Amino acid sequence: MTGSLDSVAEAVAATVARYRANPHYVLQMLREIQEACDWISPDAIDRLQEALGLPRTKIEGVAGFYAFLYTRSRGRYRILFSDNITDRMLGNMELLEYMCGQLWIERGKTSEDALVSVDTASCTGMCDQGPALLVNNYAITRVTRQRVDEMCELIRNKVALADWPREYFRVEDQVRRKHIVLGNELAPGEALAAALARGPEGLLAEVKASNLRGRGGAGFATGLKWEACRNAQGKARYVVCNADEGEPGTFKDRVLLASHADMVFEGMTLCALVVGAAKGMLYLRGEYRYLLDHLNAVLERRRQRNLLGAGILGRSGFDFDIEIHLGAGAYVCGEESALIESLEGKRGTPRNRPPFPVTHGYLDQPTVVNNVETFAASSLIAHRGGAWYAAIGTSASAGTKILSVSGDCARPGLYEYPYGVSVSEVLDACGAGDVQAVQVSGPSGVCLAAAEFGRRIAFEDIPTAGAFMVFDHSRDMFEVARNFVHFFAHESCGFCTPCRVGTSLLRNLMDKLKNGHGSPYDFAEIEKLNRILQSMSHCGLGHSACNPVLDTIAKFRPAYERRLQQKEFEPAFDLDWALEPARQMTGRDDAGAHFNIGSGEKT
Ligand SMILES: Cc1cc2nc3c(=O)[nH]c(=O)nc-3n(C[C@H](O)[C@H](O)[C@H](O)COP(=O)(O)O)c2cc1C
Ligand code: SF4
Repeated sequence: MTGSLDSVAEAVAATVARYRANPHYVLQMLREIQEACDWISPDAIDRLQEALGLPRTKIEGVAGFYAFLYTRSRGRYRILFSDNITDRMLGNMELLEYMCGQLWIERGKTSEDALVSVDTASCTGMCDQGPALLVNNYAITRVTRQRVDEMCELIRNKVALADWPREYFRVEDQVRRKHIVLGNELAPGEALAAALARGPEGLLAEVKASNLRGRGGAGFATGLKWEACRNAQGKARYVVCNADEGEPGTFKDRVLLASHADMVFEGMTLCALVVGAAKGMLYLRGEYRYLLDHLNAVLERRRQRNLLGAGILGRSGFDFDIEIHLGAGAYVCGEESALIESLEGKRGTPRNRPPFPVTHGYLDQPTVVNNVETFAASSLIAHRGGAWYAAIGTSASAGTKILSVSGDCARPGLYEYPYGVSVSEVLDACGAGDVQAVQVSGPSGVCLAAAEFGRRIAFEDIPTAGAFMVFDHSRDMFEVARNFVHFFAHESCGFCTPCRVGTSLLRNLMDKLKNGHGSPYDFAEIEKLNRILQSMSHCGLGHSACNPVLDTIAKFRPAYERRLQQKEFEPAFDLDWALEPARQMTGRDDAGAHFNIGSGEKT
């Protein structure tokens, strides 16, 4: 559908009816309207505003926040190349340029016939099988020139996406090493039956005894979180599964949801039993749109087996159901309070904390937010007991961790290890030789040099949400950090000035160094930016935005020093470079089209 007035009216009416005109589902409605009409036209916003009785600015504010929602037509085929560093290492930008050439369009622009646009997106979570891209939010992996040629042909012939070859959209699990979670043989309902036999208090005691800590990054004790929510005052309680998985290099939740969804939903149901929730929500990142039908089918099967719904497994009063909300391309929505805002149909702006979600979460009610892997592990604990779980791993880090391994190695994919595994053991297992560095836990994590490969994956040494990106000696660690800095600048939600301005200044500074305008004074400039970002940012995104630069300066300083060609400090805003687009547009490159940087005058 291309968005005729009739089709827009139909799409708006259908989605408003599906969500019973509940304004908390505005994001879901906008997403569905775009799926039906290719974009969110002013007419669609008018109709939605009328149907929901919301101010127009509110709807526009939501639509404008999310990278995957378009309030201007971006064509019938919207191509976004994943732009993580691992995609870059696999040649994504060459493929993007090639596709633009084949389709005669400029990156970021929509073709004149409103057929297609080509651009980049932050990491799409397919780093083990890149280079990857999204077409109308559906992932295509292992892109090659040949595949680009075929796609261009399909686009030119206006073949509907549903009729594109299915193999384009195949996403493999690539599980390389299983342990208790990836190797589980739990039958649906088995953990729930064990939990019901123990009762909510008994189950909570097991989760506390297991020493399970959150797998989404912060590592908060899961039992304590569930207990705090259970004890909080409120009219209703909610369970939220965080499947936003936006940290570049992380893709383990994708596989858990593709192949172990029952275990994840069961973990959410166990949590509901403990805290007394009747409603659960799984927030699925927009990049995993392809999983939506599968996940809804698993939920339906669970309802039929009385594992969801009213009186679960015959226990009167144990009523709980789960719905799925899709995100729309905003990394910050992985932060739990931003995620809750997004679930409420708003812009994903992080809230002030405290109060924390366990007391004031979804609709201001007590809410547990846990990562996908945390809920999966909870199912095992309910089944096998807390002591069994606590005996795996190290004394401070119980259980196992699933690592998403990508980059320069022979066998990228998922590796599940008990906590305490060393970095070098993982490198051996994934077939990585000649390793220069490993970035653990994504751009906001830590960059390790060879001397540190004896360190261990554990909360007491190197905590991680799961990403494990390998770089061999052919890689330029400055460029790795520059890619990460661009990521943060792109994903800053703009709510607070230190992060909004700080991340773009940092990006400009790294670009300046790349363009040969760096001087030794820039190290001090980076330190200053870091102090501001660390101390004044509103949420974790801003706090960690400088990490990749500081780490790589400390461990790979020559990669920076060879770029510091100037003796005097130059500001990060390069006026001559800013004129480059104008030069390209006018086809000029003569002296008059350049700015004389030394004199500050146009030559
Ligand atoms: C910018 C930012 C992004 C985050 N993204 C995610 C994410 O994608 N998935 C996740 O589980 N936690 C993410 N977190 C951490 C969550 O805020 C929260 O701590 C986590 O969902 C709690 O679950 P857990 O206790 O099971 O780890 C993010 C935090 C920040 C600051
Ligand atoms: S730190 Fe950045 S991402 Fe977080 S609220 Fe501020 S602007 Fe938004």
